[in-house]
Amino acid sequence: MEFYFQIVLLAFLCFENGIFTTTSRSDQVLSIIPETEADVEIVKNLARENQTALWHPDSFHHIKPHTDVHMYFNISSVESVKALLSTNGIKHSVLVEDVQELIEVQTKNISTDPRSSTGSFYEQYHPLEELSGKGTGPKKAMWMDCGIHAREWISPAFCIWFIQYHLQFYELNPSVANTLDNMDIYVLPVMNPDGYSFTWNEDRMWRKNRAKYDGTFCIGTDLNRNFDANWCTEGASANPCDSTHCGPFPESELETKAVAQFLRRNKHTIKLYISIHSYSQMLLFPYSYTMNKAENHEKLNYVAYLATTQMRRHHKTNFVYGPGAKTIYLAPGGSDDWAYDLGIPYSYTFELRDKGRYGFLLPPSMIKPACLEVLTAIQTITSYVIDNA
Ligand code: ARG
Ligand code: ZN
Repeated sequence: MEFYFQIVLLAFLCFENGIFTTTSRSDQVLSIIPETEADVEIVKNLARENQTALWHPDSFHHIKPHTDVHMYFNISSVESVKALLSTNGIKHSVLVEDVQELIEVQTKNISTDPRSSTGSFYEQYHPLEELSGKGTGPKKAMWMDCGIHAREWISPAFCIWFIQYHLQFYELNPSVANTLDNMDIYVLPVMNPDGYSFTWNEDRMWRKNRAKYDGTFCIGTDLNRNFDANWCTEGASANPCDSTHCGPFPESELETKAVAQFLRRNKHTIKLYISIHSYSQMLLFPYSYTMNKAENHEKLNYVAYLATTQMRRHHKTNFVYGPGAKTIYLAPGGSDDWAYDLGIPYSYTFELRDKGRYGFLLPPSMIKPACLEVLTAIQTITSYVIDNA
């Protein structure tokens, strides 16, 4: 009688699998329902075997009578496990008949280009490597941050736009492909999130972060005066109430410290540092903390000349370029100078549109042209850095 039952059960399982044979063709996931404590012990022992992976519950400690257990079995053990369960009268069924097939369904898209269609890109699974371009070997890297200053809204808008542009136009724009194939790009879209949020909710003209320190009612440190580059000398303010307050000590702010730590850790691959600000349409490079020339001033200046020339040619936009201190004012503790002194040979700060007609209140209709012209400049810089740094 029992023997007959087992034959029927086996036949039933095979029928359910759609194959009338006693060997499975793939790893399988079984659903098992132990009824008694003895059943539970058997199932727990299965879970302890190699060749198995418990899907549900997360730990075999939680296997109890009358609750469904999902367990993955290697092809080599599937049939013997089923036989064991049947012999002991433990209820089970096949949850995933063909594991290999489902794995293929999840991974088969990787040979097609991920960026050819943004719609389907986000509806596929992606391996870590695929999020970088095609080139081989360790790549040079660039870092770009936006939103150091809260009220400069075009800045985070640019970083976000830049990311989507690279995802969308890898196939269509050879310059984008060249960048992604030869460079890793790190983008920090909002370096000063507390300040940015404050400009949406409280004070549109806020510049600093929102740090509070004992001994003053004034709030905020200027993150672009908080780096350890001739910190808090002429051009920065020690007064916490000022908009260019340098903070209590270099890298006192966690936003500054986090960025500085990342750059320190990756300084051997990062060849280009870019910081996005607004407004005034300028392309600045070191130094801002001194009137002295940077060691590779000629190259920095030449690349800035190339970049602004391309902007004028393709977009009819004028950007002034030069070392920060001479072009605008002495301003110590800035990220660009600090990154440069760390050893990142190409370091630039962009001041995006406009020249003051709208200032920080640049209308949304100008986001796209503001981004496109700066993209041209950045592509000029990256292609130079890829070839020469
Ligand atoms: N407007 C920017 C600022 O005042 C210019 C940054 C130029 N670089 C610098 N290290 N100050 O922060
Ligand atoms: Zn700024």
